[in-house]
Amino acid sequence: MAVEAERMRVLIDDLLSLSKVEEMERVQPSTIVNLNEIIRSVILSLAPLSQEADVPIHFENAVDPLHVQGDDGQLRQVFMNLIGNAIKYAPSKQGITIQTQHIAQDLLLRSPAYQITVADFGDGIAAHHIARLTERFYRVDTHRSRAVGGTGLGLAIVKHIINRHRGRLNITSTEGKGSRFTIILPQRRDTNTL
Ligand SMILES: Nc1ncnc2c1ncn2[C@@H]1O[C@H](COP(=O)(O)OP(=O)(O)OP(=O)(O)O)[C@@H](O)[C@H]1O
Ligand SMILES: [Mg+2]
Repeated sequence: MAVEAERMRVLIDDLLSLSKVEEMERVQPSTIVNLNEIIRSVILSLAPLSQEADVPIHFENAVDPLHVQGDDGQLRQVFMNLIGNAIKYAPSKQGITIQTQHIAQDLLLRSPAYQITVADFGDGIAAHHIARLTERFYRVDTHRSRAVGGTGLGLAIVKHIINRHRGRLNITSTEGKGSRFTIILPQRRDTNTL
């Protein structure tokens, strides 16, 4: 009973959060946040999970500070899901690597940008699933994903949040080697005046 009730609570939370994000999608956030602080705080929150799974998290914050125009709570949700997924679906002793990079000119966004990659060295994802991962409720039906559970809404929420931030999400994976979830966010134009 308790397990079912908890599962229902998580599902309702995720659905509410998805509809809230969809509702706000047209309004770009106006606050400035330091993404490094958000990532550090997410890593702290996930430390017990990462220790339990024996999956260390390496954060290579090459760009510091990393200011973007963003919603603190929503960007937290993005990294909670991406890093949480890597721990859940791709546990590997090599751990998870988070890398950041500045891009002078992103061709698709047509602006300077920041690229943040969450890479794992776990099972990877078969190519035919990749385009569908951001669909709501889509889960790859593996033994592991049945065992760890989840609603399949996490990446759908991530996608909408990144859209709201006028960025994009790119997923690449090689079965047996691992996956890379890359987020590209536009750099705030007058960042150097901060
Ligand atoms: N790093 C990863 N390695 C392997 N498979 C992954 C990884 N991240 C996600 N997946 C696969 O993509 C599916 C969708 O992920 P998503 O975060 O949307 O949902 P979930 O984690 O199952 O549930 P929720 O995030 O709502 O709790 C997962 O069920 C899993 O099969
Ligand atoms: Mg998830």
